[in-house]
Amino acid sequence: MNHLLSIEDLDRHAIERICDRAASFAEAQERDIKKVPALRGRTVLNLFYEASTRTRSSFELAAKRLSADVVSFVASGSSVEKGESLKDTVLTLSAHRPDAIVIRCPWAGAPALLPRWTDAAIVNAGDGKHEHPTQALLDVYTLRRRLGSLSGANIWIVGDVLHSRVARSNILAFRAMGAKVTLAGPPTLMPRDVQEAFGVEVRTTLDDLREADVVYALRMQHERMQEAYVPSLREYASVYQIDGRRLGPRQLLMHPGPVNRGVELSGDVVDSPQSLILEQVAAGVVVRMAVLYEVLASARTGEPAPEPQTA
Ligand code: NCD
Repeated sequence: MNHLLSIEDLDRHAIERICDRAASFAEAQERDIKKVPALRGRTVLNLFYEASTRTRSSFELAAKRLSADVVSFVASGSSVEKGESLKDTVLTLSAHRPDAIVIRCPWAGAPALLPRWTDAAIVNAGDGKHEHPTQALLDVYTLRRRLGSLSGANIWIVGDVLHSRVARSNILAFRAMGAKVTLAGPPTLMPRDVQEAFGVEVRTTLDDLREADVVYALRMQHERMQEAYVPSLREYASVYQIDGRRLGPRQLLMHPGPVNRGVELSGDVVDSPQSLILEQVAAGVVVRMAVLYEVLASARTGEPAPEPQTA
């Protein structure tokens, strides 16, 4: 695997391989010294054009725990234009000869342009409303640890599907792993033709939410909304908020973060033992270690990466 641009590039076998490698890195994370020498001498460049807490910090930690050198470049979105200036930025930063570039940006499809301008391996850390493949991988990893397998699991993705790159990547990944995916939310926040395009079920109420083994709530993405998609957040919450009444005691709860407490989730379910939200964050580091290892150790050879040295 030379780049990770989309979950569409991965089949079940590849997703399992990355999760298994992440699990082997997780063992080292239990030790006092968490660093392994796997990517010593390599350079990872983080190029972030959008705000990020979890994704940026975990990519940075992932690279450091693999002993790579890390440079983080945070561009202020407003001053950078599309097209030429992205190209110029990449050409300029490529002069430092990074081995991998991790990019987050508001432009759907932009990470796929980077291989024209640089020899570095490209990892998509979220591009507009398009995809967020490492989020999907860490969610599969988290669920495999809990459920053993996703085969036959009933996963409901609830909320603002329309603006969510997480939803796109997660639908693809969960289905590739054999889960049944149902989307639920207001019709105004549901992409057209999603049922046919993605092979999912669509509901506009939470009446049957108890069918779900896993409830995956999405954040209301205010920053991507140019108009009002719901009458008000209070109205939205009254119909779609996952709270202690709607969430059954045996259902698992996930959310990619950052959570709007009191909007898509009530505070009590965020803090409940059913919530996997902090496990998802912790999984982010080891899964991103596995992704960086995969694109750097197997890049250019086309062969699967060898087993990492974790001792
Ligand atoms: C997500 C994102 O930025 O796409 N957050 C994340 O990476 N954990 C989801 C969101 O912003 O709602």
